[in-house]
Amino acid sequence: MNRFEDVKVLLTGAGSGIGRATALRLVSEGAAVYAVDLSGEGLADTAAAASGPGRIATRVADVADESAVVETVRAAAAALGGIDVLVNVAGIHRTTPVARLTVADMERLFAVNVVGTALFCRETLPHLPDHRGVIVNVASSAAAHGNPYMTAYAASKGAVLGFSLSLAAEVAYRGVRVVPVSPGSVNTPLAGPHVLPPDLDASYYARIRSPFGAADPEQIAGVIAFAASRDAGYLTGAEIRADGGSHI
Ligand SMILES: NC(=O)c1ccc[n+]([C@@H]2O[C@H](COP(=O)([O-])OP(=O)(O)OC[C@H]3O[C@@H](n4cnc5c(N)ncnc54)[C@H](O)[C@@H]3O)[C@@H](O)[C@H]2O)c1
Repeated sequence: MNRFEDVKVLLTGAGSGIGRATALRLVSEGAAVYAVDLSGEGLADTAAAASGPGRIATRVADVADESAVVETVRAAAAALGGIDVLVNVAGIHRTTPVARLTVADMERLFAVNVVGTALFCRETLPHLPDHRGVIVNVASSAAAHGNPYMTAYAASKGAVLGFSLSLAAEVAYRGVRVVPVSPGSVNTPLAGPHVLPPDLDASYYARIRSPFGAADPEQIAGVIAFAASRDAGYLTGAEIRADGGSHI
């Protein structure tokens, strides 16, 4: 498939996991991808793995830093010759019992997951072409379904979901689409070490597991690519929940 031939994509979080898999998928389908991440090493690995009719350029930036985002979007539009698609994947996670939540943790979660996503949308929207532009924002199934020890993370992803649905309504008159994609559990380095009560029975987590097991990042990249493609041309303001049936 070459669904992204001549399509210019700005993608955050491309240095690992779902963002890397999405970059590789889009390049393989012909896209010109401008890949952003906090990790230069991660971006270099992504660029080295990319192959296909498309191409990839990279830039290190912190999505939570307003001036860095302004400069990154300007540079992306100049390098690509415009922007057709924005994909916000960059995100962080904390697994913490509510009793141990800190203001610093909550502020960083919201700065990266919510403010970072919002800033990229704000800065990219003027570049997106009417009747063709697309934004895909990665939220999480945690936005709508309870997950123990993920209160602040879930709140930040709920904010990403709500932001995306209202933005879809705000820009629909231009024919610009906004699609939130909410994965369930995905095999990536995201979650990191858990800080859980010592007496916690790990089986407590079983209820949020998919009968299909955790997804590979490539499976979520496929969903993001669909949402960004013209195959999804009538899809906007509607969440795609890709959680392997965790909540059926
Ligand atoms: N892995 C899961 O189970 C899962 C489930 C639902 C949603 N998600 C969401 O998917 C997205 C990608 O997660 P992943 O699982 O691929 O994790 P990951 O840790 O493999 O990748 C996240 C990437 O974002 C980058 N990043 C983090 N903070 C950044 C910042 N301030 N500026 C720029 N880049 C930054 C990291 O360097 C990393 O390359 C996140 O938004 C996450 O919340 C993941």
